Amino acid sequence: MTAPALTAAEADSVVGQAVFDEIIARDSRIEPRDWMPDAYRRTLVRQISQHAHSEIIGMQPEGNWITRAPSLKRKAILMAKVQDEAGHGLYLYSAAQTLGITRDEMTQQLIDGKAKYSSIFNYPTPTWADMGAIGWLVDGAAICNQVPLCRASYGPYARAMVRVCKEESFHQRQGFEILLSLMNGTEAQREMAQDAVDRWYWPSLMMFGPPDDESPNSAQSMAWKIKRFSNDELRQRFVGMLVPQAEVLGIRLPDPDLRWNEDEKRWDMSEIDWTEFHEVLAGRGPMNAVRIQNRRDAHEEGAWVREAAAEYARTQARKTERAVA
Ligand code: ACO
Repeated sequence: MTAPALTAAEADSVVGQAVFDEIIARDSRIEPRDWMPDAYRRTLVRQISQHAHSEIIGMQPEGNWITRAPSLKRKAILMAKVQDEAGHGLYLYSAAQTLGITRDEMTQQLIDGKAKYSSIFNYPTPTWADMGAIGWLVDGAAICNQVPLCRASYGPYARAMVRVCKEESFHQRQGFEILLSLMNGTEAQREMAQDAVDRWYWPSLMMFGPPDDESPNSAQSMAWKIKRFSNDELRQRFVGMLVPQAEVLGIRLPDPDLRWNEDEKRWDMSEIDWTEFHEVLAGRGPMNAVRIQNRRDAHEEGAWVREAAAEYARTQARKTERAVA
């Protein structure tokens, strides 16, 4: 008995899967119009939209200090940095849109509290030294995580990450420089810098996600070459980057068990408090409610701008139609 013939859709899917597998195996790029498995598309929408939300929510902890930066120069730098984060969010929303989700849908998910964004942005920024610690630790972690994403298999995501990473490198250096100035300052300034690093160190290690054996998405994302390294590999790389920089700063990393294990060629460290991580992910971090409320308010207060822009676009379209007619 002969097998029933494939439908056109089934045939497309068989060919599509073979071409997709070949592109991934050759380390080439999947582009928006290429066939891709539904699960690959869903994974990308999940990761890229979460990433975009992180950039947008991530404007808040530092935005908190724009009006209080200690000098005009510091204020100008901080404003530029926060604007960079807005730009990153926009590239990433655009990359996600190429996969079929709209910006409005993503925004709605965020302001309804249904979307994830990075745990790190749910911590407060009570002192100026937090600007240094965020730049050095948070943007430093972002670079470690995101440089490999410049080689992600999905073209629009990988290309967006190139510029994001260049800007993150500047952010990391400006954070380091803030801390260096404080460490070269008074005793009170040194204490403020150390206190900020004490508070941001562990949350920055959590940015890389759960340990590999508790990371449900890593194996598939690595097989699809979206992720190039596991969460724990990147965390190790990050700590290795911090240790010599902390020495230059004269700052102590708040982990008494941190040491290089020569036999295993890895950093031994204390256990991360994963309970805290899961609490923050569940919306119960110190600043989750404030962050979402601020985003919701900004969205509502910006409604007139969106309406005006839409009306302007309609008027321009009518003018073009009349000119063509
Ligand atoms: N904060 C919030 N959620 C997190 C975090 C975190 N730090 N780490 C992991 N998670 C979530 C994952 O999104 C996933 O949830 P979901 O399945 O509901 O989407 C769950 O925890 C399990 O984690 P993993 O299986 O390890 O998830 P994944 O393979 O996606 O890896 C990671 C997580 C490393 C964050 C990855 O998504 C990634 O590299 N994203 C791009 C970088 C990014 O988003 N950076 C944002 C902060 S940097 C900045 O904006 C300055």
